[in-house]
Amino acid sequence: MTYVMGRTAAEYARLRDQARIWADATGTLLDTVGLAPGARCLDVGCGPGETMRLMAQRVGATGRVVGVDVDGDLGRAAVDRLVEDGHRQCEFVEGDIERADPVPDGGFDLVFGRLILLHVADPVAVLRRMWEWTAPGGTLVVQDYDMRGVALDPPLPVLDEWRRGFLGTYAAAGRDVGLGHRLPRLFAEATGALPDGTVVTGRIDRLATTGGMLAATYRSVTPVGITLGTITEAQAQRFQADLAEAMTAHPDHQALWPLLIGAHRRR
Ligand SMILES: C[S@@+](CC[C@H](N)C(=O)[O-])C[C@H]1O[C@@H](n2cnc3c(N)ncnc32)[C@H](O)[C@@H]1O
Repeated sequence: MTYVMGRTAAEYARLRDQARIWADATGTLLDTVGLAPGARCLDVGCGPGETMRLMAQRVGATGRVVGVDVDGDLGRAAVDRLVEDGHRQCEFVEGDIERADPVPDGGFDLVFGRLILLHVADPVAVLRRMWEWTAPGGTLVVQDYDMRGVALDPPLPVLDEWRRGFLGTYAAAGRDVGLGHRLPRLFAEATGALPDGTVVTGRIDRLATTGGMLAATYRSVTPVGITLGTITEAQAQRFQADLAEAMTAHPDHQALWPLLIGAHRRR
């Protein structure tokens, strides 16, 4: 298993920033599928636990929220924070969803995964497993990126290097940077039918604010990129310097973010 992003404090902070940015989109999707008090939820690839927080707020004290992640330190810290904040219905299970079956017995009313299928070698196999964990009457919900459209207006060469180095490293690791768009087909293969619904969320923001995320994502994949031969140390340094300069020179250039694509199906 190659996880293309880093496992550093800076990457964990980036994941929390990213979670804040998509909190409304994810919360609205949870409401669309009718997540209600008392429900049992599973967050696959829970990372820093911010979607678990959205679930806990909706299911209340009588509900159950289980996060599973291969990164035990990240998941345990997430649940510690959630419990400190009063969400005692949250728990964490360390496990690799590509290998074993790390999830405790029992069906879930909601099985959810955000930005996880993008990171596994066989998204259909993982989706099939998630469908099995979904109780009859429960709902499978996935949100994932289509990163192919990321762009700047007006264009700048520094974004070309982000596309080459960042997206190229995902591709070299065998990851599908357009996976979000393929969710309906993946649902059909894994569950036997297309999703009941899909939701596409976009975002445009100034380079002055988006630049930090571009810098952090490129920095995060750099070690794997160097290993795979898609990024050199010199390219990485040059990219960070060029981006810093572009953010100062062109703060109001408009960045189109990856599309966050959600799909859901009731079992
Ligand atoms: C991009 S992060 C997304 C985190 C969270 N879902 C969110 O949206 O904020 C991907 C997460 O999936 C986890 N992950 C990657 N591969 C995994 C696997 N095979 N089994 C379990 N977790 C995995 C990573 O450790 C990381 O926390």
